Amino acid sequence: MSTFGKYRRITVREVLSGSQEGKELRLGGWVRTVRAGKEVIFLELNDGSCFASMQVVVASASPVAAVAEKLGTGACVEVAGKIVASPAAGQQWELEAKEIRLLGAADSSYPLQKKHHSLEFLRSIAHLRPRTNTFGAVFRVRSALAFAIHTFFQERGFLYVNTPIITANDCEGAGELFRVTTLDPLSPPHTESGSIDWEKDFFGERTGLTVSGQLQAELFATAFGSVYTFGPTFRAENSNTSRHIAEFWMVEPEMAFADLEADAELAEDFLRFLVGYALENCAEDLGFFDRRIEPGLLKRLEQLKNAGFQTMSYTEAVAALEKSREHFEFPVSWGMDLCSEHERWLTEKFVGGPVFVIDYPKDIKAFYMRQNDDGRTVAAMDLLVPRVGEIIGGSQREERPERLENRINELGIKNLPWYLDIRRWGTCPHAGFGLGFERLLMYITGMENIRDVIPFPRTPGNAKF
Ligand code: 4AD
Ligand code: MG
Repeated sequence: MSTFGKYRRITVREVLSGSQEGKELRLGGWVRTVRAGKEVIFLELNDGSCFASMQVVVASASPVAAVAEKLGTGACVEVAGKIVASPAAGQQWELEAKEIRLLGAADSSYPLQKKHHSLEFLRSIAHLRPRTNTFGAVFRVRSALAFAIHTFFQERGFLYVNTPIITANDCEGAGELFRVTTLDPLSPPHTESGSIDWEKDFFGERTGLTVSGQLQAELFATAFGSVYTFGPTFRAENSNTSRHIAEFWMVEPEMAFADLEADAELAEDFLRFLVGYALENCAEDLGFFDRRIEPGLLKRLEQLKNAGFQTMSYTEAVAALEKSREHFEFPVSWGMDLCSEHERWLTEKFVGGPVFVIDYPKDIKAFYMRQNDDGRTVAAMDLLVPRVGEIIGGSQREERPERLENRINELGIKNLPWYLDIRRWGTCPHAGFGLGFERLLMYITGMENIRDVIPFPRTPGNAKF
């Protein structure tokens, strides 16, 4: 039997593509089902390389049958045999087993026995759920789209920059930083006035986990023109919704020589590219989502490829919401931030597709957004899409040094002299946005809970696995 001495092994995906007809080979995988007939035993072998499993056929009379019969769902095996065209309907190829090597048995206490499991239950066994059909599909699509994100930007000349995870700045100003400290919680050092002396902490100042890589991406944009960062971001936001998690991945492009219009153009091209990429490269998995998770998904995604995205101002959006006969839990008025229910109504009922809402009141948006001439709004944009609501948030940045400094002082923000420096020397109109990777995955897979599109979700009260 094999010694596992080669990293390039044949996968079920390659076999099912039809390239291995008549070949003798070995396949490693996990048993999904065992069905014993009179003359043959059938095994469904899944190796995660694609949605479909490999049908393995074992002659009951062969010595291999003794091993096959005892296999339980979840067992790990390596099967050696020959790939032949399957005579039966349901699959094109099958593997005639000549040898089966049991690598890891699984008894009947294995939780993923062949029956329906709710997504809630599967969340409680997040260490095993990658071995299910649904999560196999989710995480293959996730991997493909991560690659697609790099492809999109690299093909367009954007520089990939790794922005820091530990930072002393709260980019969004919402006070949602997870603290990072090495001070002893029981006896931290104090200043003369009695407050905690952060200067004695590891970094010599108060630090936390980043909520966004934007500020540092901006620094790079004013050297490299077009850049992007794609990494984990953290928010100590105590909201238990199906669209928020405390650790999520964000893609943040930043472009010099660009205004809000260019920013929206990029966002639209980007989203269309990603949807097109998924349709082309993840067809088998998307087919499953269309059948089992969201009927009509494929049609919805196909439509996005051609649809134009609409744009409306925040002021127009509020007027439409006020005029609607809809009963909202939170009534709308100019100046308030839009809630999920308002966003969903705008994109699902009012527009019936993706919509950019732009020019928000400056008081509900972050300090770095460019002030509009009306004195009360900023050049912000949120892209709202059906089912998910806000998928992208971005803006043109304030490139005028005095305006920015005034706003920073007004809000009492400290620690940003370096950020102001790029306005002081060689400032440049620039714009960018952040796409929540998990929100994108919800949109493309139809999965309704954000906890089901990230391998190991972090939410208030839960950091297990
Ligand atoms: O709108 P946000 O807060 O914008 C920023 O952080 C900017 N600095 C981005 C930029 O301009 N470079 O977040 C951007 C996106 C949201 O539209 C949403 O998709 C996602 O990040 N997001 C979350 N996703 C999951 N869980 C959370 N708690 C999220 N908070 C934001
Ligand atoms: Mg936002």
